[in-house]
Amino acid sequence: MENIVFPQGFLWGSATAAFQVEGATDADGRTDSIWDEFCRQPGKVVGGDCGEPAADHYRRFEQDVAMMADLGLQAYRFSIAWPRVRPDAGEVNQKGLDFYKRLIDTLRENDITPWPTLYHWDLPQALEEKGGWANRDTAFRFADYAAATVEALGDRVDAWTTLNEPWCSAFLGYAAGVHAPGRTEPRAAVAAVHHLLLGHGLANDTIRAASPNAQVGITLNMYPIIPVDPRDPADLDVARRLDGLQQRIFLDPLLKGEYPADVVADLEPFGFADNIHDGDLGVISGPMDMLGVNYYTEHYVSSSANGSEPGPSPWVGVQQASFPVRDAPTTDMGWEVRPDGLTSVLLRVHHDYPKLPLYITENGAAFRDDFSGNGAIDDVDRTGFIASHLRAAHTAIMAGVDLRGYFCWSLLDNFEWAEGYAKRFGIVHVDYDTQVRTPKMSARWYSRVARDNALVSVS
Ligand code: FCB
Repeated sequence: MENIVFPQGFLWGSATAAFQVEGATDADGRTDSIWDEFCRQPGKVVGGDCGEPAADHYRRFEQDVAMMADLGLQAYRFSIAWPRVRPDAGEVNQKGLDFYKRLIDTLRENDITPWPTLYHWDLPQALEEKGGWANRDTAFRFADYAAATVEALGDRVDAWTTLNEPWCSAFLGYAAGVHAPGRTEPRAAVAAVHHLLLGHGLANDTIRAASPNAQVGITLNMYPIIPVDPRDPADLDVARRLDGLQQRIFLDPLLKGEYPADVVADLEPFGFADNIHDGDLGVISGPMDMLGVNYYTEHYVSSSANGSEPGPSPWVGVQQASFPVRDAPTTDMGWEVRPDGLTSVLLRVHHDYPKLPLYITENGAAFRDDFSGNGAIDDVDRTGFIASHLRAAHTAIMAGVDLRGYFCWSLLDNFEWAEGYAKRFGIVHVDYDTQVRTPKMSARWYSRVARDNALVSVS
């Protein structure tokens, strides 16, 4: 048996996001988000799926928290739906806040640390109609929403995350158009980058003022971007550009107080610098207590047009493809299983930026689950995926990285954005017809890992 023990106090959790699990999209005063609207557009989401019924978590959260407690999970990363708390980005909706109060109280009664994210992609549609994240005003509306939320829930929460994966919000939503709001406007996408970061900074200040003892952070999705041919200057340049757009455009302003000069130059044709006002970078780079890292795979990139998957290209100036590489196994998303990349991204942040505590806020895999004869789901692939990534995380800890916790994505099977319900990431299976939950083998195994604070053998 492997002897991989995690540092004392390492936090073991699981994650979901509001639109992906809650359902109840019309309940208690909630109004549309950009995802409700996007789902209505034909052909945008596989199977025409939408946010209903999802995993009906809004109505079944007590059962779900009891299940987390049974599994011995110590923390729950969930997101708060802006369109519940301030429908149409207008007045505060007490019923929306009350739902999160009940959820948080139930978690705390079960000794599970609530780990809320304020924005996991569900912008009120009313704000999109005023320009969405391309409009600077949205950053201030986000801060208003953060203020109302922290005022109501701050006495119950010790760790806040402002944004989840702003890269996806900006580039997949406003340049590639494959996520809500489905726009294909590179200028809007780069404006969105800045306004998301500004929103983070304003919300960070607001939370700190209201809840001085809480930890505040942001979650970024990180990938090593690797040139297919490291001797080819053109490949190297594409890798530099994409790494700039994917990682440094977020990490540098947050942690160093400036945008990388090469990225600003690359984005000159899209008017990026015009969005930056005096004082913005000071707001964006306000002190943070932690950084969340979401990790799924790594990307090999090339200047040649022969790749297949569009990979991490945000469709802003670089139209290169990402290369499915060699013989790596892939998940049901078609993503290569590359645990070493997790060690690399953790080491990269550790070496290149001022040190701050890191949490893996998402990591996991979609695989097709088969019920075996006895009703169990032996998801060997998913279990192996998580085990290999925990090994990689442990390697980073041994190399000195201050990694404090791991949240597997996801607690429940859920609405996987443009892929709808067909892709299952849960360690707990959800039957969408009956809403019956069935913990998979991975859940039972992960429960032992959390209990032992160590990698235990898969059996
Ligand atoms: C991440 C998202 C999360 C989930 C996983 C698979 O990019 O943050 O909501 O969809 O991918």
